[in-house]
Order: sequence, then C-alpha cells, then structure tokens
Amino acid sequence: MTDLAPWPYPRWIAHRGAGKLAPENTLSAFRLGARHGYRMFECDAKLSRDGVLFLMHDTDLQRTTNARGTGGDRTMGELAQLDAGSWHSRAYAGEPLPTLEALVRWCLANHLCLNVEIKPTPGQEAATGRAVGELLGALWPQDAVPPLLSSFQPASLAGARDTAPRLPRALLADRLADAAGDVDLCTALKLGCIAMVLNHALWNTPLVAKMHGAGLRCASYTVNDERAARHLIALGTDSIITDRVDLFAPGD
Ligand code: G3P
Ligand code: MG
Repeated sequence: MTDLAPWPYPRWIAHRGAGKLAPENTLSAFRLGARHGYRMFECDAKLSRDGVLFLMHDTDLQRTTNARGTGGDRTMGELAQLDAGSWHSRAYAGEPLPTLEALVRWCLANHLCLNVEIKPTPGQEAATGRAVGELLGALWPQDAVPPLLSSFQPASLAGARDTAPRLPRALLADRLADAAGDVDLCTALKLGCIAMVLNHALWNTPLVAKMHGAGLRCASYTVNDERAARHLIALGTDSIITDRVDLFAPGD
C-alpha cells in the first residue's frame, strides 16, 4: 500500500468557470463561479498560432465564439478580438476570449485553486503540455496550493512533467482502458500523476480502493445531479467537477 498523494484541493471544482450559467472559459464565468462560493476552477487550455495559451474547449471556434475554423490556427491578437459571449446570451455579448495567464493572475489575486485541463489542438499535444508547464511553473508561487494539470493526452502530461516537474498532474479518462474493467493506472503512474479524473459513472468501490491503494486520488467529471454526487462521496472519492455551481454549495 503506497501513501496517498497529498490532495490540498477542495471537494468541489467548478467546470469551465460556472458550468452553463455563463459563457464557458471566460473570466466572467470564473467570477460567477467564485460568487457562488467556489474556490477551485477547471479550465481548458490550448496554444494559439503564435504560442500563447488561451482558454477554449473545442478545437473549432464555431460553438463558443463569433468565428469559425481552428482556434489554434489564429494568433492571440486575432483571438483576443473575438466575441466569446454572444453565443451564450445577450448579457455576455462582447465577452473576450481570455489567455490562460489572465486566469492564472486572477486566481492568484483571489487566492483560488486552479485545475488546468491541457486540451491541445490535435497535433499539438506535447507542445501544449510543455507550454502549460512553463507558464504555470513561472507564474505560480512555490508556497501557494499548486495548480493541478490534467489531460486526456499522455503526451501533454509528459510535456508538462518535463517543464514543470513539481506541479501535480492527473490523467483524465472517459472509458475503461481494457476489457477487464480497469482504467489506465499504469499510464498514470508512469507519468507521475497524483490522481485519475474519470467520467463519474466509471467509479465503483473496487476501483476507488485500487487507486487509493496505488497512492492516487480519485476525482470525477462532470457531475450535475445530487444522487450521483452523493454516490461519489459515499465511495470515498476526493473531488467532484460540476457545472451546477447553483445546485451544489461547495462547503468543503
Ligand atoms: O477536466 C474535466 C472535464 O472538463 C473533461 O472533459 O470535455 O468537459 O473538457 P471536457
Ligand atoms: Mg475540460
């Protein structure tokens, strides 16, 4: 039995800022999540054409901005001019598409925790991971609760490990890795991860025991109903990523 990795994070993590209540991955969304009492935030980060990390979930701009095409094909100067709020609602018209650095500085100024999901444009896996490690390694003070760097892409986590070995990492997975019903524990351990962040429906008692036995923490995405949340807490998992900042009061 390996010692459990330290887990200085709250149980509740707001997904993309404030779930669906504000335009995802914008500073307005993170501010709204904080107004609901959330102390930790998940965001999606990728590289612009000129090497700046910006916040956006999809590869394509179409769903969450007023433009089309691959976000990573544009410079940050071009991305900064887009409207990342009108798609959501009129109240957010003109909301800018932020850099990861802007979010980091806001979190630090407000003493908030951050989970950066490294969400590379396809083909940019390792470079995006390296860039996230470089930025966070440079900006985040050594004496603050460190940001958690997560990804579905092992190459991105390897890149982050190479540039910021001291920052904790987590492997994301949305399905079981093999027919035996196991997740990719070996990959997580090889990458020096401290946690697995799984589609919440995958967790069960033996899997939590196996992860904790291997020293890894257990977290879930994206949990939006109370029954599922109660189940995950009863299983002894460590953190829950939710859209429903209006439903779950992040008391711990
Ligand atoms: O980081 C957890 C969760 O955000 C992963 O899935 O597609 O919502 O980025 P997705
Ligand atoms: Mg995400």
